[in-house]
Amino acid sequence: MKQQPKRYLVTSALPYANGLKHIGHLAGAYIPADIYVRYLRAQKRDVVFVCGSDEHGTAIPIQAMKEGTTPQAIIDKYHAAMESDFADLQISFDIYHRTSDPLHHETSREFFTYLHERGELETKETEQYYDAASDTFLADRYIKGTCPHCKSDRAFGDQCETCGTALSPDELINPVSTISGNKPVKKKTTHWYLPLAKHESFLREWILDQHKDDWRASVLGQCKSWIDGGLQSRAVTRDLNWGIQVPLEDAKGKVLYVWFDAPIGYISATKQWAINSKKDWKPYWYEEDTQLVHFIGKDNIVFHCIIFPVMLKLHGNILPTNVPANEFLNLEGDKMSTSRNWKLEMRDYINDFVKKENGGEQCVDMLRYYLTQIAPESKDSEFTWKGFQDAVNSELVSIFGNYVNRTFVLMHKLCNGKVPTFHAALADEKDSQLAQDILDIKNKVEHSLENYKFRESLFDVIDLARKGNKYMQEKEPWILAKTIAENPANQQLIDNCMHHCLQLTANLAILINPFLPATSKKLCYMMKVVEKLLDWENAGSMKLLSVGYNLREPQLLFRKIEDEEIAFQIEKLKSGAMQENEKAEESKPAENQLKPEIVFDDFGKIDLKTGIILSAQKVPKADKLLQLEIDLGFEKRTILSGIAMYFQPEEIVGKQVVVVANLAPRMLRGVESNGMILMAEDKEGKLHFVQPENAIPAGSKVS
Ligand code: MF3
Ligand code: ZN
Repeated sequence: MKQQPKRYLVTSALPYANGLKHIGHLAGAYIPADIYVRYLRAQKRDVVFVCGSDEHGTAIPIQAMKEGTTPQAIIDKYHAAMESDFADLQISFDIYHRTSDPLHHETSREFFTYLHERGELETKETEQYYDAASDTFLADRYIKGTCPHCKSDRAFGDQCETCGTALSPDELINPVSTISGNKPVKKKTTHWYLPLAKHESFLREWILDQHKDDWRASVLGQCKSWIDGGLQSRAVTRDLNWGIQVPLEDAKGKVLYVWFDAPIGYISATKQWAINSKKDWKPYWYEEDTQLVHFIGKDNIVFHCIIFPVMLKLHGNILPTNVPANEFLNLEGDKMSTSRNWKLEMRDYINDFVKKENGGEQCVDMLRYYLTQIAPESKDSEFTWKGFQDAVNSELVSIFGNYVNRTFVLMHKLCNGKVPTFHAALADEKDSQLAQDILDIKNKVEHSLENYKFRESLFDVIDLARKGNKYMQEKEPWILAKTIAENPANQQLIDNCMHHCLQLTANLAILINPFLPATSKKLCYMMKVVEKLLDWENAGSMKLLSVGYNLREPQLLFRKIEDEEIAFQIEKLKSGAMQENEKAEESKPAENQLKPEIVFDDFGKIDLKTGIILSAQKVPKADKLLQLEIDLGFEKRTILSGIAMYFQPEEIVGKQVVVVANLAPRMLRGVESNGMILMAEDKEGKLHFVQPENAIPAGSKVS
């Protein structure tokens, strides 16, 4: 038998601070970790649960470009948003840190320096893709192309979005810069590498040997194929201006690779937690009797099982005990996808359910329930709104909620609202069987939780409620009550049944607590007990509620999900995806959307002339329009142009423009516009002047 660990450090993957997270993330890395941690806390084990925002890498500046703002504004916005969403869904981190924190920068630099000074890193000069227009080396998400494996054109320099294969920029077919859209060139650069091949035998032994029985098959499978495929050296630095500076004199303009610093974030988060709570962080990362568990999605396996462990070993830290990675969660028959807007964001569920009505806490538990029931533990699984409705209505409401409600109603009706005595002399086999079931299920749940089988453990808790319903159904206390006048001894049989049903309710409160914390809290309130009752060691006892104790009236634990609610959600999902689709169509580069062909004579009808802007002014009540006075050489014109969002009137005076000079006049906002100026529009919709290269006289012909 394995010795029990002295302390636990549990981590959930640090989410990128580049957008809101969806329920696939929640089901993969956050809910299972939270269940595990709540279980350990109920066991009174020493456990710290850390997470935080991953704020480096190319994902951040790319999002900043998309939103027309700075990387700093992006991480501030999404860090706060994610922290609050996790809190709303009762994910009970001991700390939610962030990798932009100075403590993290310092911790990561120290880590790098430690490996560098001991000669554990190699340097190599290679040629890498470079975008001259933006003066940027194109790593990771800065480069895009066709996937060599599945031929999808949604492949990036680090990974293909469609098939999930890890890639390097050199593997991409037809690579282009995501910054400028240009074809990149090659340029020499030097970087630091972690030589993984040197650690092959360590990895083989530690993963494929030592953990062959306790790690998930899918995790072992991925590790084996990485190791068998030949371990390549991995660059741990990048030429970027967003990230943690490499702590070396000769590394100006270079930062640590995001996947080097992010997992170190688990360590810095632990340090910050220790500072906040006046504890020592070191045992959690250095003592062998610590159990370190990383909860992640399957796309993170190689980093948590191969690369980070090698870093930890070289740095003298402990290694993870387990990495229970989850597969992916699909949504209504399709892969979840941010770019296609096929997703359910945590925030959407919070707004539509949790924050919408009284008792939003039940809605948190309802989501936690369904996501655990369908957790993609061994293969991809699927969220459907119908499935959500069924899980809530026919399990939470009809089995668990119904059991608790019947117990409380009957106890008030037949036992004066008090916990009745158990008359041992009248005990029968059904009573002892129920007590045995409670004990058996407690042990089963414990075993499955310790082995990261969350679906199974939740199923067993619900099964116990099912057994309670059956017990009550067989005992029929309401029938006994009908004949109590003739058989006064029936009261004792009723007492026995209700006593057992109430003790089972108290046990259910303990067992469901890691999964549905708000429900357990409510049960404590109804039973008028303090939350101390929820200590795991109490489970299995038939003496949790004392005889004669007065209990409250029942409260609704879960409400039904109505057909209209799910119809509304499905409609919302579909229309959201449709809008995204239309947007994508609209923003397709112009070359994909040519107008029908014209003949030369058509073009010949247009009179284009150069002009010079003499004056410009805003048009009252028209946000977009500027009124321009333009010198066309042979005359001056008034032209109204929709460029006010992009230019200040004073900054464009004196600019050369190209004018469609024979356009029929038009009245705009009460002013006659005589012609049109040509502008070019970039991908972001921003306008730029189309101008002669040099200054030439106004009125020159353009053809
Ligand atoms: N940000 C990464 C992702 O979303 C996960 C980082 S996990 C860590 O895929 F270990 F690096 F922190
Ligand atoms: Zn692919």
